[in-house]
Amino acid sequence: NFPVITVDGPSGSGKGTICSLLARELGWNLLDSGALYRLVALAARHHGVALDDESALVVLAAHLDVQFEMPANQNEVSIILEGEEVTNSLRTEECGSDASVVAALGPVRDALLERQRAFVSAPGLIADGRDMGTVVFPQAQLKVYLTASAEERANRRYNQLINKGLGASLQAILVDIQARDARDMNREVAPLKPATDAISLDTTKLSIEAVLAAVLDQARH
Ligand code: CDP
Repeated sequence: NFPVITVDGPSGSGKGTICSLLARELGWNLLDSGALYRLVALAARHHGVALDDESALVVLAAHLDVQFEMPANQNEVSIILEGEEVTNSLRTEECGSDASVVAALGPVRDALLERQRAFVSAPGLIADGRDMGTVVFPQAQLKVYLTASAEERANRRYNQLINKGLGASLQAILVDIQARDARDMNREVAPLKPATDAISLDTTKLSIEAVLAAVLDQARH
């Protein structure tokens, strides 16, 4: 029965960055639940499974052969799918967009539920996602919901891609973010919304340091 802090919110709200800083600061484990949906989407591509073939996607989700490795001298996890390093292919916008399509299928979400809960371990877990506080960890000690304007989120995503040396179009990213928001918020199963007991933070005008400090302050209460 270890403590869990959930951080939910839309694409580009800063969850990923805040969660890895929180995990480092507290020395807790980290669940990047979006990576699991991205892995299902990528596995579907590798196996030629269509994104609307629900029963085949459920099989892929239930049997995901994945390892999360922390290479020595590096601070980012390597993700290995069926023996192949996929860390970079998982981060593409295309994969994120495919992930939001498979994530709208209830049976796929159910197939990933226990795998996500198994991440809870000593001394505690930071859970990053869309439904961490509402569905996966309803008993979490602290629930945070991060938001920011769509324009600001598109800017952040754009800068991330440019910094990685990847080409990007700001306009295309904004359109993609709005489409993803609509899919994530309007789907029937586990729609993106704050848990009733979540603390909401609009990060549009906040620095990463300010958001981190605000969450740590709540965590240490
Ligand atoms: O990094 P970004 O926020 O853009 O994406 P992500 O967190 O890796 O999630 C990719 C997609 O997976 C999201 O657009 C959601 O549709 C879906 N997802 C979800 O439904 N539930 C989660 N707990 C995490 C992600």
